[in-house]
Amino acid sequence: MIRLRTEEDLFALRRHVAAYATLVAWSEAGCLAALADGNSRRLEELPGEPRALRGTAPILQELGILVGGGETWALSPAALEMARGGALSLAGAADSLEDLARLGRVVESGGPMTTPEGRSKATVGGTRPDDREATGRFLDFLWRRSEVPARETVAWLRSRLPPGGTVLDLGGGHGRYARTFADAGFRVTLFDQPVVVDLARERHGDAFDMMAGDFGTDDLGGPYDLAFLSNVVHGCSPGEVAALLERLRAAVPTGLVAIKDMFLDGRGELTEVAACFGLTMLCYTEGGRSYGLDEIRGLCEGAGFRVVDRFDALDYQVVLARAA
Ligand SMILES: C[S@@+](CC[C@H](N)C(=O)[O-])C[C@H]1O[C@@H](n2cnc3c(N)ncnc32)[C@H](O)[C@@H]1O
Repeated sequence: MIRLRTEEDLFALRRHVAAYATLVAWSEAGCLAALADGNSRRLEELPGEPRALRGTAPILQELGILVGGGETWALSPAALEMARGGALSLAGAADSLEDLARLGRVVESGGPMTTPEGRSKATVGGTRPDDREATGRFLDFLWRRSEVPARETVAWLRSRLPPGGTVLDLGGGHGRYARTFADAGFRVTLFDQPVVVDLARERHGDAFDMMAGDFGTDDLGGPYDLAFLSNVVHGCSPGEVAALLERLRAAVPTGLVAIKDMFLDGRGELTEVAACFGLTMLCYTEGGRSYGLDEIRGLCEGAGFRVVDRFDALDYQVVLARAA
């Protein structure tokens, strides 16, 4: 994150915001999609107003997204790679930028963010139960980013579990973690909302068990050897985390719970990511927030768990707790 010491730093920060807004605008207008075949195109061939595109293309060149110059531009090799993986689709990003412009209201009156008509924009852990398409896009985004963390996390946890043991992937979403546990020989149950389970079934078929419901109120099945909660607690208020831990004691007789998240007092960039993530939770959940490791330890202890181990990866951490 840029450290603000002088007015120059402030200008630099503003340039970053402007550059991101430009990228989102090119995506919204369909210009990035029009270049995604890797060919160069003249500005007049792109779905935008030529003077506007001429004025903004150099910003995307500075970002390393475009190569070329004057009237003819193409996506850079790195941008092409991102476009092929779906990372440059940026659906919903313009909406988020509009929300950020209205952040003052949230700071004044509290979250979650509302539409200009006053409707709440709260999600359920990032998903929208009434909008399958938006939920699918969100889960695809998480799926793209989860391959390495899932491999690392399961590799770390497997030696702490009985071979072929049972795992509850609570709020398992896209199912990358459940699939990785299943591939490592564990018997897994993914628990999530009905719309999410439906999408996970499309992706994984019957590679592992799935249960649909509300993890705050519905039966969680079991017994399991481990409850695994990845990127779930940050969507919950402290009271909800405590209640969830209480419920898990019944489903997991060993009392083993792994909480994977980005914590505020992690290290370096992780802390920065967690800080910004707290803003997203403020705006788009009823009670979610980024937690510090000490807060999680306190919540675990309050619910009768003891933190017994921790895995520090570069961009996330896993806290392992056991019922005391
Ligand atoms: C941020 S996603 C995390 C997905 C996955 N575990 C990961 O780490 O990428 C949070 C998931 O928790 C689920 N979730 C949140 N609240 C829930 C609830 N009350 N009942 C069931 N699922 C819930 C959401 O549907 C979503 O799939």
